[in-house]
Amino acid sequence: MSATQAALRGEVSIRRLSKAFTLNDRRLDVLRGLNLDIRSGECLVIVGASGSGKTTLLRILAGLEQADAGEVDIDGRPVAGVGAERAVIFQEPRLLPWLTVLENVTFGLDIRGWSKARARAEARHYIELVGLGDFADAYPRQLSGGMAQRVGIARALTVKPEILLLDEPLGALDAMTKIAMQQELSRIWREEKVTMILVTHDLEEAIYLADRVLVLPKIKSQPPRLIDVNLPRPRERSSADFVALREELLAEFGLH
Ligand SMILES: Nc1ncnc2c1ncn2[C@@H]1O[C@H](COP(=O)(O)OP(=O)(O)OP(=O)(O)O)[C@@H](O)[C@H]1O
Ligand SMILES: [Mg+2]
Repeated sequence: MSATQAALRGEVSIRRLSKAFTLNDRRLDVLRGLNLDIRSGECLVIVGASGSGKTTLLRILAGLEQADAGEVDIDGRPVAGVGAERAVIFQEPRLLPWLTVLENVTFGLDIRGWSKARARAEARHYIELVGLGDFADAYPRQLSGGMAQRVGIARALTVKPEILLLDEPLGALDAMTKIAMQQELSRIWREEKVTMILVTHDLEEAIYLADRVLVLPKIKSQPPRLIDVNLPRPRERSSADFVALREELLAEFGLH
């Protein structure tokens, strides 16, 4: 791989992206002419009111949904359907209950042409990375919600994606587990140098994780907003700058 290609790893360019749905004969504009460049290795967090199009945007980036107009390029190439350079993590990890943690993580790697030995070695590495080394042989029913979600993260990382797409990955967790998992996600993102695009309802989570926060408007005549989070890491939730940014984001939602 040349130096230029390496520099492009996980870079996303969104141009004039539009998507509408038809609901009871009514046209519903969800995304309207969105332009956005996401840098290689960046953490972009998407927030917005319920129904503002966060999941729709993520699904288009994942190749699970088609836009009506516009383009998405990844590393300079147009996205066409799902691709091995992207991995998606949903709110529920969707583990197969009859397989162990290790088997869940290696499941499906054979169709990618991986040898069993390589699949197991990579899976074990990422199971360790998410802190579940002692649970490789456990079944999903023996895990807590946070642990199950860690398995989902390990499974996504094992295929070594350039881009991780996460739709409210911590949304179903209790408050304490959530904070611990935010710290884990931040660490994993830094270690793996992966581009991370994450949807959340939690504004504190957005500021804790993001390089930039994209605020999708509910009213589509308004433009989306991008907010830079220039705070040192690891982030201090009670610092004055953190609190000020949280206020700024709350104001975006008229909750000031
Ligand atoms: N397949 C579909 N058919 C029709 N309408 C849809 C479809 N998918 C999404 N929508 C509509 O598009 C809008 C945006 O949906 P989307 O799921 O992207 O919102 P969201 O921002 O992720 O919301 P939430 O925070 O509740 O998850 C909603 O009004 C929804 O009703
Ligand atoms: Mg959603």
